[in-house]
Parts: sequence; structure tokens; C-alpha cells
Amino acid sequence: MNDYSGRYPAARPRRLRQSNWVRRLVRETQLSRDDLIWAMVVHDGAEDEIPVAAMPGVARLSVAAAAKAAKQAEKLGIPAIAVFPHIDARKKDTSGKEALNPNGLVCTAVRAMKDAAPDVGIMVDVALDPFTDHGHDGLLKDGRIVNDETVAVLVEQALVQVGAGADIVAPSDMMDGRVGAIRAGLDAAGFQDTLIMSYAAKYASAFYGPYREAIGSGKLGSGATKNPGDKRTYQMDSGNTDEALREVAMDIAEGADLLLVKPGLPYLDIVRRVKDAFALPTYAFQVSGEYAMLMAAAKNGWIDEERAIMETLLSFKRAGADGIVTYFAPRAAALLGA
Ligand code: PBG
Repeated sequence: MNDYSGRYPAARPRRLRQSNWVRRLVRETQLSRDDLIWAMVVHDGAEDEIPVAAMPGVARLSVAAAAKAAKQAEKLGIPAIAVFPHIDARKKDTSGKEALNPNGLVCTAVRAMKDAAPDVGIMVDVALDPFTDHGHDGLLKDGRIVNDETVAVLVEQALVQVGAGADIVAPSDMMDGRVGAIRAGLDAAGFQDTLIMSYAAKYASAFYGPYREAIGSGKLGSGATKNPGDKRTYQMDSGNTDEALREVAMDIAEGADLLLVKPGLPYLDIVRRVKDAFALPTYAFQVSGEYAMLMAAAKNGWIDEERAIMETLLSFKRAGADGIVTYFAPRAAALLGA
């Protein structure tokens, strides 16, 4: 055990902080480019970039621009990209069937990105919300999100995405049993090497707000009648931590390779508990609202933008995360240098 009996004045902790070289020497946690998964939004239009107002510095990219960005990720040393689609509203319907289109936006983008940068890992979300007109992650029947019917569709969605070349499928929907079903579906189709990153502990959070603008999913509860106005019947309640361990344990038993906790900063305690309990590769998602919050304060001159970005990213590592899904990935990688 550490001996903490050292007493002032013989012991002076400030000795170890007196200059940059010694601070570097004793720093316990490091952030590296290897820790970054770039959260990237793509759209099916022609413009290269359409800025997302609530996320200054983030734009929806066309497929061509996304392919270029994949090359940029390679140059910056970013190991993987997570793709999120913004599709034309006319392609959305109640069942989200566009999610199963092998020539839809996600598959097209994945193919273009893998072509441009074969060595960059491509991760895709498995969930229906970018494709449903009601904005829910699952199928909506009589005002309820139906579990098992949704899972069957998610398996098909994953197969279509992996067929296009996705390396990691990341179910973000929080239906029960979806990891096992997707694993079985992938294995039966010969994709036993495809990784599953489970959004294992995903909370019903206010911090996904700007993402709805980014992917153009309408306000929940609008439109159809009997449409729940939030995702609380499937995403977790913010007050719970034991439940996160149960969700993670089930996903591991079902075949999850990598675990994701989401959102990030408000849930660092969950990252720590999950890492300590299971010792599996564990990631945190610094979500859209966290990005927006940092940038809003920085744009007002209230915090130092670069320092705040790097400090939050390091905090995930300190909490035990092996990496971070973040919209800041290209900036952070550039700041970290070669
Ligand atoms: C959808 C999904 C969401 C995010 C990633 N996948 C939103 C939600 O669950 O409501 C959030 C990403 C972000 O806020 O940056 N299943």
C-alpha cells in the first residue's frame, strides 16, 4: 500500500508540480490519438458540408466529404469513425424501413469511407431513430415501443451495414436482447469477426438535444398520436448505477466485445464502475450536448476552448475509459500531434 504518512515540511507535494518537465514525468493518465473515435454526421445531399447550428465546428458531410474525412482520420492517426446519418425527411416512415436499404446513406457512406481509408475502423449505429418519422429508436405500436419486433429489424439493419463493410456495429437502441440477436445473426451470415460495441449503459438524457438537429429527427411526441414524448421506457433512468452493471453483464453474456457508457461527463461514475467490475474495453460517448455546452461557453469567452476540450477528454481516461467517442476527435488528434 502507499504510505501517505509523509508530513509537511519534509513532504511538499508542490515539488512535483514546479515545472512542466516534472509534471509530465509524474502524470498518471495520458490521452493519445489511439483513444479517439470520431463521431461524424453524414447527409444524403450534394453540399459538402452543412453546419449544425447547435454544434459550432460540426457539419453534416456529404458522402464524398466523408470519404475525404476518413482519409484525414488516417493522417491524424484516429483509429475509428462512428457514422451517424441525416437522411431526407421524405425517406422516413413509421417503420423506419430505409434503415434496411443496402444502397441507403449509411451503406453508401461506409463503402466510400472504407474505399478511401481501408485501415480506419468504421462503426455504425444500430437503431431506427434516424429513419423513423416519430424519431424513436424502435417500432411504435399503440403508443409503445415494441421490443422483440424491433430486435428482429435491428438484426437485419446490422446485417445490411456489415454487408457494406462496417467493422463495428453499435446497437444504441437499448432494446432487451438485441446484442445476442445481432451476434447470432452476424455469425449465421459468416460475419463472426465483426465487432459489437454495445451502448450497454445508455441513459435517457437531455444531453442528446443537439443530435436531434444534427440527424434531423423531429421532436419526440409530435406528429403521430400516442407517441411517447421521450425515450424513458427504453433508455436508463439517470438515478441508477446498479442497473448499469446489470445491463452491461447481460450484454457481455450476449456477446458484446466493447462497452459504451453514454452520455459521458455526467456519467463518469458509471464508466469507473463498469471498468472496475468487468475489465473489458470500455468507452465513453461525449455526446452532442456536452459538445454544445463546451463550445457555447468557449464562444462566449467564458472558458479556454482547447484546454477545456482536452481536460474533459482526459477525465474520461482518468475514470477508466479506454477511449472516447467524440465530435472533437479531429481537433484533439491535431492538438496531440504525432
Ligand atoms: C440514437 C442515438 C442517439 C445518439 C446516438 N445514437 C440519440 C438518442 O438516443 O436519443 C446521441 C448522440 C449524441 O447526442 O451525440 N439511438
